Amino acid sequence: MLTSIILLWLCVWFLIFQFKCRRPKNFPPGPAALPLLGNLLHLGFDNPLNDFERLRKTYGDVYSFFLGPRPVIMLNGTKAIKEALVTKASDFAGRPQDLFVNDTTEGTGVILADYGDVWRNHRRFALTTLRNFGLGKNSMEERIHGELQHTITEMEKNNGKILSPQHMFHNISSNIICQVLFGKRYDYGDNFIKEIVRCFTENSKLANGPWAMLYDSIPAVRKLPLPFKRAFDNVKTVQRLANGLLNELKQMRVPGEPQDFVDCYLDEIDKRRDEVSVFTEEQLRGNALDLHFAGTDTTSNTLLTGFLYLMSYSHVQERCQQEIDQVLEGKNVVTFEDRHNMPYMQAVIHESQRVANTVPLSVFHETSKDTELMGYFIPKGTMIIPNLGTALNEDGQWKFPHEFNPENFLNDKGEFFKPDAFLPFSAGPRMCLGEGLARMELFLIMTTLLRKFDFIWPEEDGKPDFTPVYGVTLTPKPYRMKVQLRATQ
Ligand code: HEM
Repeated sequence: MLTSIILLWLCVWFLIFQFKCRRPKNFPPGPAALPLLGNLLHLGFDNPLNDFERLRKTYGDVYSFFLGPRPVIMLNGTKAIKEALVTKASDFAGRPQDLFVNDTTEGTGVILADYGDVWRNHRRFALTTLRNFGLGKNSMEERIHGELQHTITEMEKNNGKILSPQHMFHNISSNIICQVLFGKRYDYGDNFIKEIVRCFTENSKLANGPWAMLYDSIPAVRKLPLPFKRAFDNVKTVQRLANGLLNELKQMRVPGEPQDFVDCYLDEIDKRRDEVSVFTEEQLRGNALDLHFAGTDTTSNTLLTGFLYLMSYSHVQERCQQEIDQVLEGKNVVTFEDRHNMPYMQAVIHESQRVANTVPLSVFHETSKDTELMGYFIPKGTMIIPNLGTALNEDGQWKFPHEFNPENFLNDKGEFFKPDAFLPFSAGPRMCLGEGLARMELFLIMTTLLRKFDFIWPEEDGKPDFTPVYGVTLTPKPYRMKVQLRATQ
């Protein structure tokens, strides 16, 4: 009997030792972890951001925890994030390849591509194409204004009424990027846009959610029919819709005369037909969907946050409108150039981005080689999470880190300035490639709408709730707004 107990005890210890989560030597500190589960139980399932903040208080700006058996390093605060992503740029520019999100996207696209030629070529191609299709030229501004007209018409129909802006802002952002990618826009009731936006927004919540964490931590559960299967179904739906659209565009295209991103990509495939190329039709679908997703759920959630705060801080809304009226007097439409004469509006947009913290944990990175950070050793292949929110509300970096206040972006003379800790688009070689488009959209959309309408919080809805819903993107809880044509219009 005693021998059996000792043997059992030895077996248990052997197993614990085998599956123990071990930190490499001189690795960033962090909480002790359970075998197999890692620190899964340390993290709140609905929103782990507060738990990450608690761990930062205990272990410092660079700490580690375990996602299942895998060690992960969390970067907090401007200094650590910039030292990794900018100073040691190429060391930290990889992406993990074996997570839930990789499996859903089947290894295509630019966002999750590892640091290497496939990523480099597709990033360069996307940036060039975005530039050729109008960033820096007037055509992108015209597209944005064209799309805005549909929204304005909707709002005018609802003048004096209360509406839910959720779908509206997703539709604007989605249609703007659709025009760049596919050369077409969709009516807001169209099934294509409704389905795509539904799948994008659902997957953005599933991808960082508790079931994805379980999927990443315990590979054994991956084949089980658990709620993460829904994300795979959504990807299938989106791929089916994209395939139909791509086939249609292929029929219509004139080689050598590209009208949109898809045409340019197909020309690129033709150009490289005789070589081993990273440009393939499968990658075309993956890249188009990446840009569509990245360009929809981010800009729209930032707009939703911006308008939520503008309704709650009506004196800020009024001051924006005064500046807009003054600068645009006699002008038909606002241009992106006008931002240089609108320091307050610029400050409000940036402050909306700061408090929105739209992509709180960035996209996860991975070290591409053995490296060092702030005195710690970090082996190749370590997953890195830049916690961007910890820079966006970092004490010492902002005049008012924990409140909505456009003064955060205004100097003593009332001029607009951008503090170093403003990192909503991340930093370094993997930094958001849609930053230029997003900044143009935010400025033109917010300025045009504020010029035309007052946005009023409906009294009967009680107090606004600023607590966001967690996911790859942070989303304001659904709210309603009253839109009222301004007296000057
Ligand atoms: C307010 C709007 C936006 C915010 C806050 C935002 C934020 C981000 C962040 C934090 C990342 C991760 C960077 C990293 O890994 O370090 C990212 C990546 C990316 N974003 Fe955005 N984004 C926005 C709009 C857009 C738009 C409009 C597009 C489409 C044109 C876009 C396309 C991308 C792509 C393709 C990547 C992956 C880049 C790479 O891996 O090289 N984003 N974005």
